[in-house]
Amino acid sequence: MSKDSNAQRMEKIVSLCKRRGFVFQSSEIYGGLNGFWDYGPMGVELKRNLKDFWWRRNVRERDDMVGMDGSIIMNRAVWKASGHEETFSDPMVDCLLTKVRFRADQVPPQSGTIFYFSGAKSSISSWTSDKAFSVLLKKGDNVERARKVARQFYAQSSPEGAATDLATVELLNERTEDATDTTKFNPENGAQLTEPRDFNLMFKSHAGPLESEDNKVYLRPETAQAIFVNFRNVLDTSRKKLPFGIAQVGKAFRNEINPRNYTFRSREFEQMEIEYFCRAEDGLALTDYWLEQRLKFYEDIGIPRAKIHVVDIPDGDRAFYSKKTYDLEYEFPFGISELEGIAYRTDYDLSAHIAASGKPLDYFDQEKNEKFVPHVVEPSAGVDRTTLALICEAFEEETVTDDNGKSEIRTVLHFHPRMAPVKVGIFPLLKNKPELVAKAREIVEQLRPHMMVQYDEVGAIGRRYRRQDEIGTPFCVTVDFDTIGENGPEKADTVTLRHRDSMQQERMSISGLKAWLLEQVN
Ligand code: GAP
Repeated sequence: MSKDSNAQRMEKIVSLCKRRGFVFQSSEIYGGLNGFWDYGPMGVELKRNLKDFWWRRNVRERDDMVGMDGSIIMNRAVWKASGHEETFSDPMVDCLLTKVRFRADQVPPQSGTIFYFSGAKSSISSWTSDKAFSVLLKKGDNVERARKVARQFYAQSSPEGAATDLATVELLNERTEDATDTTKFNPENGAQLTEPRDFNLMFKSHAGPLESEDNKVYLRPETAQAIFVNFRNVLDTSRKKLPFGIAQVGKAFRNEINPRNYTFRSREFEQMEIEYFCRAEDGLALTDYWLEQRLKFYEDIGIPRAKIHVVDIPDGDRAFYSKKTYDLEYEFPFGISELEGIAYRTDYDLSAHIAASGKPLDYFDQEKNEKFVPHVVEPSAGVDRTTLALICEAFEEETVTDDNGKSEIRTVLHFHPRMAPVKVGIFPLLKNKPELVAKAREIVEQLRPHMMVQYDEVGAIGRRYRRQDEIGTPFCVTVDFDTIGENGPEKADTVTLRHRDSMQQERMSISGLKAWLLEQVN
C-alpha cells in the first residue's frame, strides 16, 4: 500500500473510532491534552476483552503463573534501585526559534546548505546580539528564507521581541557550508536545534500535603517493578516452584517528548506484563518459549503471524543486563512499530532490589539444597498498542452489490469474535409488532448474562446490519414472522442468524443459540 493510502487508511480508522465510540480525545471539550486518550463504549469493551483474554491465557489456564495488582505510586526507593530515576530518559532537543521539543533520535537526517551567523544588530537602535545561530536551507529553497528564519530568531531577543520589524534586523558575518544528513536542524523550519539533553520521562508528584523532595513520588512508568519488589510476598503466599511467573495488567505513565501516531505513543497507557522467574541455565530457552507463546496469543486474537515482525535485538543495542531481547512489531498503517518486547533480563532486577533494600529476594531450591537469585524472562505488551493493532487489522472498506445491482461501500471491522465489543445484535423485524419485540427482548435477556449483546429496532434491517458491521459485531439475530409461528409451526422459535464477514444468513433455533454463540466467542 502506498504512503498516501496508508495515511488515508489511518485517517479513516481514527474517524471511525470517534464516530462509533471506540476512542475519544481526552478532555476534548477543552481542546484535548496531548498524549492522553479516552475509550468510549465500544473501545472499553474491546480493551476489556483483550485484557481478559490475556489474563485467562497467561494466568487462569496455567499452573505456573499467578497474578497481582500493584499500586501505581510506590516508594521512590523502588525507582532509585531499578535505575529509572537515574537513566529512564530520552535525549531531547529544542528548536531555538519555536521552542518545539523533539526526541533527538527522531529528528530526520537532512541535507542542504547551512547558513551561519555570528550575531545581529538593529539598523535603527543600539541593540546588538552576539549569539551564534544557524539555519539549514534545503536544496532549491530561496536563500531569503534562511535569512528570514535567522531574523525571527534574533528579533526574539531584541527589546521589541516578536513585534520587531524584521527589516530592521541586520545579520552579521553570514557564511555557508554544505551539509549531508545532519540532524541538528528543525525539519519544519530549518532553525538550529539545541544540543541533546536528557529528559526523565517519569511523571512526578508528592505523597501527602508537603511538596518537598522527601515526599517526591513518581507515577510508575512500567508495571514490572511492583512484581519484582513483591517477589518474596508472592513466593511465600503462592508456594510456587521455579520456573513460575507473575502477571500484572495496569496503567503506566511516561511523559513522552513527542506523543504520536494516535494512541500508539501516549503519556498514559496500560501494560500487560509477565515476569517469568527461572534458573539461569533456562533463561535463553524460556525466552524462545515465550516468543512462541506470544505469537500464538496474537494469532488467537486475530493478528496473523505474517503481520508480526520479530526483531532479534543485536548485542550492543540491548539493555546492558539483557542477554536476549525480541521486539514484536506490527504493520501499522503508519509503519512497522513495536507491540511488545520479550526480554531475558537475567537476575538484574532482583539483584538490584536485594542490594538496595537489603531484603532476601532469593529462592531456595529444597530438592537441590541451593539458594540463588532467580533470573527472569519478561514478555511486556501494551494494551493500547494491541487494541490499536486489533482495530487496524480488522478495518476494511469493501464494495458490496445488492440484489438490484446497486453497489455501496460497506465499512466493517472483522474482529475475531473473541475480541468483538458486541458479540451479537438482536433485532425484531418490525418495532411496531409487539410479538416480535417481546421475542427479541426474551433472547436479549437469555444471552445478556453470558455476552455483550445489543438490541436494535430502529430503521431497516439492512441499515441495522451496517451499524453492527461498523463496530465489528460478528453475528446478528433477527426475529421475524417465522419466529413467532406465523408461517407454520416448523419454523416457530427459529431466528435468522446473519454472519458479519460472509453476510450469509441461516436459520437457527432459539434454544441452540446460546451454546452456539458461546462456542464462537470464547
Ligand atoms: N517492563 C518493560 C517495559 O516497560 P517497554 O518496551 O518500555 O518495556 C513495554 O514497554 C510495552 O509497553 C511496549 O512494547 C508498548 O507496547 C507499551 N508502551 C511503552 N511505552 C508506551 C507508550 N508511550 N504508549 C503506549 N504504549 C507504550
